[in-house]
Amino acid sequence: MKALIPAAGMGTRLRPHTLNKPKALLPVAGKPILGHIVDDLLEAGIDGFVIIIGFCGDSVREWFHKEYPEVDVTFVEQAEMLGLGHALWTAREAIGDNPFFCILGDTILKADYASLLAAEDNCIAVREVDDPRRFGVVRMDGDSIAEFVEKPEIPPSNLAIVGAYLIRDASALWNAMTDIIENNKRNRGEFQLTDGLQDMLAQGIKFSIAPIEDWYDCGAKETWIETNRVLLEGSKSGDYSQCSIASDVEIVDSKIGAFVSISAGAVIRNCELSDCVIGPNAKVIDSKLSDSLVGESALVSNYTGSVNIGDWCELESGSTKEQK
Ligand code: UTP
Repeated sequence: MKALIPAAGMGTRLRPHTLNKPKALLPVAGKPILGHIVDDLLEAGIDGFVIIIGFCGDSVREWFHKEYPEVDVTFVEQAEMLGLGHALWTAREAIGDNPFFCILGDTILKADYASLLAAEDNCIAVREVDDPRRFGVVRMDGDSIAEFVEKPEIPPSNLAIVGAYLIRDASALWNAMTDIIENNKRNRGEFQLTDGLQDMLAQGIKFSIAPIEDWYDCGAKETWIETNRVLLEGSKSGDYSQCSIASDVEIVDSKIGAFVSISAGAVIRNCELSDCVIGPNAKVIDSKLSDSLVGESALVSNYTGSVNIGDWCELESGSTKEQK
């Protein structure tokens, strides 16, 4: 079975890190978000990928071919970000009428993929959440989904759609989305996937759910840091436990961890770091950072606290180290 991964979006909530990079390629726990997704799916038996690209799509294409030269992949461009339903619809020819599995390009699940992929009906991964109003939500009738609603003001349940969908009736989804798009049936300005799924339900097509406990979304700063933390739990990188340190990182006189990811070429000197994602070739010197995101080739010097700085930026506190 093929996996369809929508990764065309601009990732505005993660700016400045997504000003020059696609969200799917941002590092978390030692590899890009998309690397976690692809590795998990290959392990679960997925044998080909269709990736929907848009913003910075060429870098996704280059990265994938370099990391997975042997893996079957098709890239489909979504010229305009018109919503998730539209994103999937742009890939209708690449997928055809075969069953497929769709997972969002910023969503890491630690799930029993094998049983999710083996579900008999169409199957939607869900999780109970405290406030479902920000999500697509399903209402159940017994074991089957009775309704899909996008970001409901009054949620019919607390079962949120986590961004992973097994679609067995692909042609029914393409027909539903074609109708929605050709008739310009927008919802909050976008062509929503949940509207296409709701149309399928109305035709009597069955959907089951797969409850997922471990759902890591990397779409916002806090969730990126949290995902980095959870994925690093129990890991070890050389002498550093609960960390992922690339092999050619220079670490001098520093305390690293827990939950620190450092990409290749970075230099860390006289620092204490915890809960940080440090980008490639960044330099962090004389600093004590926690809950921080430091972009590629950025410089942080003589700073204590939490920072979020983009690629090539420089942050140097005026205070001397003795004053801290
Ligand atoms: P999001 O809305 O969370 O991602 O879509 P985004 O638009 O990149 O981020 P923000 O909201 O601006 O911060 C979830 C996933 O669906 C893809 C995105 O790339 C992301 O992986 N997507 C969304 C598309 O591919 N096309 C779309 O039109 C919308």
